Amino acid sequence: MMASEILEKYIEFFKKQNHVQIVNSSLVPENDPTTLFTSSGMQPLIPYLLGEAHPQGKRLVNVQNCFRAGDIDEVGDNRHITFFRMLGNWSLGDYFKKEQILWFWEFLTSKEKGLGLSKDKLYVSVFEGFKNIPKDTESYEIWSDLLKKDELNPEERIFYYGVDKNWWSRTGVSDNMPVGEPGGLDTEVFYDFGPSANSGQEHHDKKKFGDKCHPNCDCGRYLEIGNSVFMQFKKTETGFEELPQKNVDFGGGLERLIAATENKQDIFQTSLFSPVIKRIAEVTKKEYEEHKEEIQIIADHFTAAVFMVSSNLFPSNKEQGYILRRLIRRGLDNFYTLGGINIDPILEQIVEQYRDTDEYLVEKFEHIKAVVLEEEQAYKKALAGGKKLIEKELITRGLLQGDELMGVVKIPAEVAFKSLASYGLGPTQLESLGYTFDRKELSELIKKHQDVSRKGAEKKFTGGLADHSEKTVMGHTATHLLHKTLRDMFGNDLHQTGSNITSERVRFDYNFDRKLTDEEIKRLEDTVNEKIKENLPVHFEIMNLVKAKDIGAIGLFDEKYSDNVKVYFVGGEKGSPTSDKSSSGRPLTDKPYSVEFCGGPHVDFTGEIKRFKIIKEEALGRSLRRIYAVVGD
Ligand code: GLY
Repeated sequence: MMASEILEKYIEFFKKQNHVQIVNSSLVPENDPTTLFTSSGMQPLIPYLLGEAHPQGKRLVNVQNCFRAGDIDEVGDNRHITFFRMLGNWSLGDYFKKEQILWFWEFLTSKEKGLGLSKDKLYVSVFEGFKNIPKDTESYEIWSDLLKKDELNPEERIFYYGVDKNWWSRTGVSDNMPVGEPGGLDTEVFYDFGPSANSGQEHHDKKKFGDKCHPNCDCGRYLEIGNSVFMQFKKTETGFEELPQKNVDFGGGLERLIAATENKQDIFQTSLFSPVIKRIAEVTKKEYEEHKEEIQIIADHFTAAVFMVSSNLFPSNKEQGYILRRLIRRGLDNFYTLGGINIDPILEQIVEQYRDTDEYLVEKFEHIKAVVLEEEQAYKKALAGGKKLIEKELITRGLLQGDELMGVVKIPAEVAFKSLASYGLGPTQLESLGYTFDRKELSELIKKHQDVSRKGAEKKFTGGLADHSEKTVMGHTATHLLHKTLRDMFGNDLHQTGSNITSERVRFDYNFDRKLTDEEIKRLEDTVNEKIKENLPVHFEIMNLVKAKDIGAIGLFDEKYSDNVKVYFVGGEKGSPTSDKSSSGRPLTDKPYSVEFCGGPHVDFTGEIKRFKIIKEEALGRSLRRIYAVVGD
């Protein structure tokens, strides 16, 4: 079944159960300093899972573009990919276990309303209990009744697993959850490809995966195709407390569902990926069967890169840009290893595969290609620079005469590390340049360096999404003032392309083709500070998207759906956003200063922000700029 057909069926199925479709949020999360990428559909919904009312109601459904950096090194095993689309449905304190299990089963097995998967191919896992959270016998019973109706034996089909397999939160198992994080036990469904699907060889290697094959043994016979999380707990200092509401958070990987409907144990052989795989094989003149790992890496990494670039990212040495750089360079390494020269046709084929569901990729193709090719040039330069650095180091250390720069040379691990730190060249690249070195010594040096950087990163990521600290809230409102002021100064073509707010600073990205002058920066700061001084009231209203646009609301939003949105007003009064009258006695302006789509949170009055100061303004890429600012005392 094609991707677009599955997507349509899923959304229709849950709309019939009174769910409202919500937008696909940006791959780069807005205002969430805890993570670099959106990696599941629930991520943008955290405040609502914790109890805040969602403007579109209690039953939601969507398809979310996701990226999981943690899986980069797993790609190559037929089933791991880094970029994927997650089907998601949520109950925010509405229905719970019974409805979710029944509906998902119907979606999977009904020919007419869903995917029509053969029931005897499906297996189920449930939570076996942990500490004071009991075994999930309720889900077991619901599954058991369902299976019996279909004349399947529950004892052969339902498996209990512990917290390492049947517990879900954004941060993993319960012990990894920071205080305040929502999570819960889950029930998963697995598709059975049979003991030797596609390959004709037994998957289960007893030495690697244990004596007995079972849904969670990881040998590849079974593929998890959907996870219903019963999100009812919040982590506390001492354990867990119940959330104010019992939620359902369902996530199912579209690519895996395609694999199941097409009975393809290798995701890269499904209708979504196989044309890309064929193209890579054609361009490199290599057989897929003989170079599966390299070809899967090329297909996966460039697919992720295409979506990242289309989300306004550029390769760099920092944060998301660094991951994008790593993907492109690792993809190129594998492409060159197979003898590939020109990556264009591969990018073209990837975009072609998503044309039905993500038309905008076609429109952005020239930009995507230009960014990847620019990075390829930068990479080639880095390789040349790394080589030069190594040669210089070797000559300085008396290890090499100027006329001996040929053939395979053994270099000290320290020198290899220097080329890694300065030019980003890893072991594979060094080897391709003809160097050998002590891998163990190099990995120890890398580890030492990572420990130091990890400490920095941990510090940085401890904010938590529930970072509603005073400074962060002030920062959110400050970005609205900044956005509006920039548009007033430079016209309405200017708009925000991203933001990231922590208690330390505000980061704001926007489209503009030049550096701001000192005088402009001063004017910008002065205007925002004036609005802070005016102590404007801030309030939000929930309204239909059409109305929101009518009243001129700005901000990042998806044009596709005409549902309710949350709109924040800075200045003006509730209920009369464009009114000239003021009745509260507060120093209101006649009209709101800023009207913007946003999830919040915000200050009640702009005076709480106290001060706004720009500390840096820099280029982010072609026609993209970034401002760093601080707020507060
Ligand atoms: N949010 C559920 C999942 O990602 O599996």
